Amino acid sequence: MEKSLVLIKPDAMLRGSAGAIIGRLQGQGLKLLALRMLHMDKALAERHYAIHAGKPFFEDLIDYIISTPIVAAVFEAEGAVEKIRGIMGATDPSKAAAGTIRADFGQDIQQNATHASDSPETAEKEIELFFKGDEIFSY
Ligand code: CMP
Repeated sequence: MEKSLVLIKPDAMLRGSAGAIIGRLQGQGLKLLALRMLHMDKALAERHYAIHAGKPFFEDLIDYIISTPIVAAVFEAEGAVEKIRGIMGATDPSKAAAGTIRADFGQDIQQNATHASDSPETAEKEIELFFKGDEIFSY
């Protein structure tokens, strides 16, 4: 079984889409193991998005992700990382396939409703940034 981190980002929070997005993932076979609402500070945002440091959109991305509270979740399934990436669709909502979360809830390449881990290794590191071991349930 594999785990992945999902973030419901500020644009989706402002539009009241968090519940619908979590419901879609649960409805497509992803098991919810952990759930938390938080307001990321700059230090956490820069650690989470460290791989993008130096890119032209980095500063705007940090400002955006700390602009409202967000929801963080851990989902589990066989092949959860790829499964969730498929359900979310392309990073740019205008290029995301019909019926994907980003096509239905995203606004533009930055305000794209959700984040999901891009590999099982990244997932382990990202999950540790947001959850303590005893906050991730097994049932
Ligand atoms: P996410 O999946 O959270 O991972 C990195 C984020 O950076 C991405 O979603 C977008 O919100 C943002 N991003 C990626 N590429 C660009 C880009 N070219 N311009 C602006 N923001 C981007």
